[in-house]
Parts: sequence; C-alpha cells; structure tokens
Amino acid sequence: MHYHVLTLFPDMITQTMSHSITGRAQQKELLHLQVTDIRDFSQNKYHKVDDYPYGGGAGMVMEPEPVFLAYEYVCQQVEQEGRKKPKVLFMTPQGKTLTQNMVETYAKEEDLVFLCGHYEGIDERVLESIVDENVSIGDYVLTGGELPALVMMDAISRFVPGVLHNDVSAITDTFTGSLLEYPQYTRPVQWREKEVPPVLLSGHHQKIDQWRRQHSLLRTFTQRPDLFEKVEFTKADCKWMRTQPVFPVDLVNTIEQKLKKPKE
Ligand code: ADE
Repeated sequence: MHYHVLTLFPDMITQTMSHSITGRAQQKELLHLQVTDIRDFSQNKYHKVDDYPYGGGAGMVMEPEPVFLAYEYVCQQVEQEGRKKPKVLFMTPQGKTLTQNMVETYAKEEDLVFLCGHYEGIDERVLESIVDENVSIGDYVLTGGELPALVMMDAISRFVPGVLHNDVSAITDTFTGSLLEYPQYTRPVQWREKEVPPVLLSGHHQKIDQWRRQHSLLRTFTQRPDLFEKVEFTKADCKWMRTQPVFPVDLVNTIEQKLKKPKE
C-alpha cells in the first residue's frame, strides 16, 4: 500500500505513523508513506498558502495552486513508479462518514492520496479538479484533516496483508459481521476480588467459542442496539437468548421467525 498525504503539518503524519504497527509495517515495506508539504509549492517568497475569502467572512482559505502542484507532484511519482492514477480522498466533516466497509474497500487500492485542509477550507475549484471522494470520520469538527487521515491510514493498514501478525484478527474483530468483540482476560486468574470466567480456563475450545459468541451478542445488544439488527443469528443464539432475561421475548420471536423464512 502506498499512502500519500498532502498537508501543511508533515511532522504530525510522519511521527504518528512511525509508531507501533504502522511503523513496523513501513520498515517491512508493506506500507509506503510519502508526506508532501503543501507549503513547498507556495508561489511566493513568504511561503504563504492561504488568503482571505472572497465575499468576506472569518478565517482564511487555502489557495488552489499550491494544493494542485502538490497533487501533480504526487501523481508524477506514482506514474514514474508504473502505477495507475491514485484515488484522492479529501478529509472533511461534509464527507461520507467512514465505516468498516469503506475501510476494507480502500484497503484494496494500490495508492491513496489524503488531502488535509486547514483554516476555513480549501478553494473549491481545486477540490472539484482533483478530489474523488469526501470522507468524514464522524459528526464533529476538527481543526484540520491530519487526524482524520491518520485514523483512516491506521484502520486501512490493518487490512493490508502482513501488517497484523495474525491475518485472522482483522476479520474476527469488532464490527466484522456486525458483532462487538467479546471481553478479554489475561493473568492473574484472580485480580482484586475479580476472577476470570472459569470456562476460559477450561481448555474446552467449543465451550469457549460458545461463551465468546454469547458475550458478543450480549455486548452488542446492550452497548450498540443499532448494530444488533444486522447480526446474522443462528438457532443456537435464539435458544440461549431465551435463557437471558435482558433479551425481550418478542425480539427473540421476531429473530426466530426471520431465521425460518428462506432468504430471497
Ligand atoms: N476535518 C475537520 N473535521 C473533520 C472530520 N470530522 N472528518 C474529516 N475531516 C475533518
């Protein structure tokens, strides 16, 4: 995977990406990170890249030309290395809200360009010229696109083959299959009056899987009821949910009815 970030704060990107899993993946050349400072493409001797907004109003707007030149520079590099024109993602709270499905789709790209804005925004004309998709990481406003780009690269990297030690963990994690992850425990068995659930010490793998499935169902229902609707239930899930007073009987009935109906 080749990441390209267009930013006014290159150190924020380089430093954060150098840690932990993304840092090791770069050393192993599974991830390539090219950070381009938009200021290097400023057209004036003061290295200024922003200006007052036409029509008035608070704040400054990033000028189109330095952004466009930075983008062209990245495209030239990618072309020289023999790869196709990269997809450009603009980090903005006005974009489509990032989901795990989007993350997995982006992970299939060979190159991704993250355009990070600052101040009151970027001149609309350059956005129209180069941006393929607008992406938001949630309904709140940050001071710039760097943290969203980092969030995206972190989430996408987990799906790049070889980045996680254990290839299965990206797919068994929270959100895959709409279920939250079950609780995890490590040593000691007893910690401040609290014990590890005995089934996890039993070595009985079938029972452990069953316990984990049940606790994933419980967590999803209590913490993210909005995700519960999308879960693919089994008959065994329904049988167990009936033994748990937290699950309303009507709800389990509806789930069971749906299970009986053949899928269209
Ligand atoms: N820039 C500022 N806020 C943002 C957000 N929530 N998502 C993506 N980019 C942003």
